[in-house]
Amino acid sequence: MIKRPKIAIVGAGGNVGAAVAQWAVLKELGELVLIDVKPGPAEGRALDLTQCGPWQGFNNKFLATDKPEAMAGADVVVMTAGVPRKPGQSREELININAGIVRDICKNVREHAPEAILIVVSNPLDAMVFVAKQVTGFPRERVIGSAGVLDSARFRTYLALAANVSVEDVQAIVLGAHTDKDMVPLVSSAMIGNVPVSKFLSAEKITEVVENTKKGGATLTGLIGTSAWLAPGAGTCLMVEAIVRDQGRILPCSVELRGEFGVKDAFLGVPVKLGAKGAEAIFEVELSASEQEAFGKAVAANTELMNIARGFLT
Ligand SMILES: NC(=O)c1ccc[n+]([C@@H]2O[C@H](COP(=O)([O-])OP(=O)(O)OC[C@H]3O[C@@H](n4cnc5c(N)ncnc54)[C@H](O)[C@@H]3O)[C@@H](O)[C@H]2O)c1
Repeated sequence: MIKRPKIAIVGAGGNVGAAVAQWAVLKELGELVLIDVKPGPAEGRALDLTQCGPWQGFNNKFLATDKPEAMAGADVVVMTAGVPRKPGQSREELININAGIVRDICKNVREHAPEAILIVVSNPLDAMVFVAKQVTGFPRERVIGSAGVLDSARFRTYLALAANVSVEDVQAIVLGAHTDKDMVPLVSSAMIGNVPVSKFLSAEKITEVVENTKKGGATLTGLIGTSAWLAPGAGTCLMVEAIVRDQGRILPCSVELRGEFGVKDAFLGVPVKLGAKGAEAIFEVELSASEQEAFGKAVAANTELMNIARGFLT
């Protein structure tokens, strides 16, 4: 049989993992393995998805298990394991629980899927990418955080709603940290149909869009009672697709910076080329003075969180 890409989702009994699986099966991205420390939810998600097949026209079978060794030979491992935030909570507050979970799973990834490209989704995102990089020892190309795709989707959505235009024609990205405080929506380069957003929206309206973007996750957590999963799953799946189909997409992802943007030893969202080798290139873009300042604050915030995360590394 021709080998299909193997995609292991760890934490797949939960909302985001199940959403990644749902989008991935619709796009027929490969063989899916759903892993969760709780075998019941993993099996339940797999069965639920399998029962979508008759109407959605796919014929996928899923392996659902609590055994980490099921990720053996995976081309891509997606890590969505960990607690989500509750209304009123910040992502940063999750570090004391999630750092240990991410560390333990990364030990399994190192042992069972040493050639995999690892996509981290668990929060606080950038610090968890740092933990994943340290524990796996993988090259930076193969340890990639998913957050910029979600934050950029929110930014594009709010811009489209404010300007009353099709979201498909909005080109805008969010860099920096995946926190309410320190994400950096790039207004200076945001365009709608190749026309700068300032031609569509007043400065006040743009500020409102930026604020809505930054608190986008908190808004949804307040409305739903837990953190969102459909858009996070869709964005993460886009990253998986870019890798398994070697698309060379340019997407904002969290990676280790080694001098790019004038920053070393930090993990933040930047424009990345995603293909079969993972994060194949990082592109620097020109930032306005205020964006530069915000990016600097994101670096400081990331350093602080990494210092806390270091306590969980062994
Ligand atoms: N980066 C992003 O854009 C983004 C967006 C949304 C949510 N998140 C984060 O993703 C994570 C998951 O969110 P969710 O809403 O799916 O939560 P959830 O509670 O619905 O699911 C988490 C799952 O992880 C499992 N789990 C816990 N420890 C595990 C372990 N050691 N091994 C395997 N599985 C384990 C749980 O059993 C649960 O099924 C949270 O940390 C959340 O903050 C990130």
